[in-house]
Amino acid sequence: MTEARDVRIGIIGGGLMGRELAAVCGRWDLLVDHPVRPRIVAVADPVPAAREWFSRIDSVSLLTENWRDLIEDDGIDVLYIAVPHQLHEEIYVAAAAAGRDFLGEKPFGIDLSAAERIVSVIEASDAFVRVSSEFPFYPGAQRAYAYADSGALGDILDVRSGFWHSSDLNRAKPINWKRRVETCGEIGVMGDLGLHVAHLPLRLGWVPSTVYARLDDVVTERPGPDGSPVVCDTWDNALLTCAAHPRSGRDFTMLWETRRIAPGHVNTWFFEAVGMEGGVRFSTRQPTLLHRFALRDGEQIWEEVQPGNVSAWPVVSGAIFEFGFGDALLQMWASYLAEREGALNGRFGTATPAEALLAHRVFDAARRSGRGGMPESP
Ligand SMILES: NC(=O)c1ccc[n+]([C@@H]2O[C@H](COP(=O)([O-])OP(=O)(O)OC[C@H]3O[C@@H](n4cnc5c(N)ncnc54)[C@H](O)[C@@H]3O)[C@@H](O)[C@H]2O)c1
Repeated sequence: MTEARDVRIGIIGGGLMGRELAAVCGRWDLLVDHPVRPRIVAVADPVPAAREWFSRIDSVSLLTENWRDLIEDDGIDVLYIAVPHQLHEEIYVAAAAAGRDFLGEKPFGIDLSAAERIVSVIEASDAFVRVSSEFPFYPGAQRAYAYADSGALGDILDVRSGFWHSSDLNRAKPINWKRRVETCGEIGVMGDLGLHVAHLPLRLGWVPSTVYARLDDVVTERPGPDGSPVVCDTWDNALLTCAAHPRSGRDFTMLWETRRIAPGHVNTWFFEAVGMEGGVRFSTRQPTLLHRFALRDGEQIWEEVQPGNVSAWPVVSGAIFEFGFGDALLQMWASYLAEREGALNGRFGTATPAEALLAHRVFDAARRSGRGGMPESP
């Protein structure tokens, strides 16, 4: 085994997700023979308390309010950019134009035109860029992907890919940037949860050709900073009914479901695909289980498989132990940094800018469909 080389990481946006990266770095020794070791060296955030949180990490030597300091810093190898959506375009474009490698948070631009501009600058640059989407790294999701990719479904009938939350069930939850069009985007919940739902289908080559969307804005006001009601104008729930092209054969029906108000679901990501010869279902609600359908001796059987703690990148953790959200993030970062080294060796890769752009095309069609009530083409 060769010694892992340090990769110096700068975080732009030291909020919820920025702090998660600190935890990922702290658990890096779970990975077996990874070629690099990430070290957070700098954090940019205009909020003092947000950046000061990172002073607990020994390797951090720069805390700044100005994200441009990180883009100009040659002592940084990779940026993690995790800021509100209205800032994606300016920061991602500046990073790519400077040739900086980065992992950018979804939705990768506040809307389709922002995503188009970001991706065109990335394509004209040498920057190695990927987009955050960690749920497909669950072992059960990996097995479901491999099963669907193998052709075992036969003629595909139905696909459902979804991500459901329920914290917005609480009408007293204060407003935040994710609940306002100006900062989250007109696609609302699709900008928040949509790439998580799009990643696996798009990686399987299942691209929607038409989209009919039901968009719901259920909670229209939330308490503002002083407690008085302010407008909450984003879509809470989105159900997209798509016609999708398989790699070969006829179009099939694919549902993409993103809900901030799904009573009973704290954080449920799921993927289901059923065809004439087979089927597969996985949900983070039962993360140790995978269900597969088979026709055997004339009987229709849904069988339960326990995939175990077998991840895309091998880990020292026991194969009988349970995998969780922090492990999915660790695997995503292992994938991104290995792919950047040219060492992914056929393992599952993090979402690409092209996939994020394709997802934006679908969300934009859904936005138009939701307003006009008719199916739209991405
Ligand atoms: N992959 C996931 O599972 C996941 C989960 C949640 C959020 N996200 C995405 O991560 C991104 C950030 O979301 P979050 O939940 O961490 O939000 P957050 O509000 O917790 O954190 C955002 C941070 O960005 C900082 N910020 C604001 N303006 C800035 C600027 N000009 N320069 C630098 N920093 C600035 C804020 O002060 C805040 O600390 C979004 O794109 C969101 O969609 C991804």
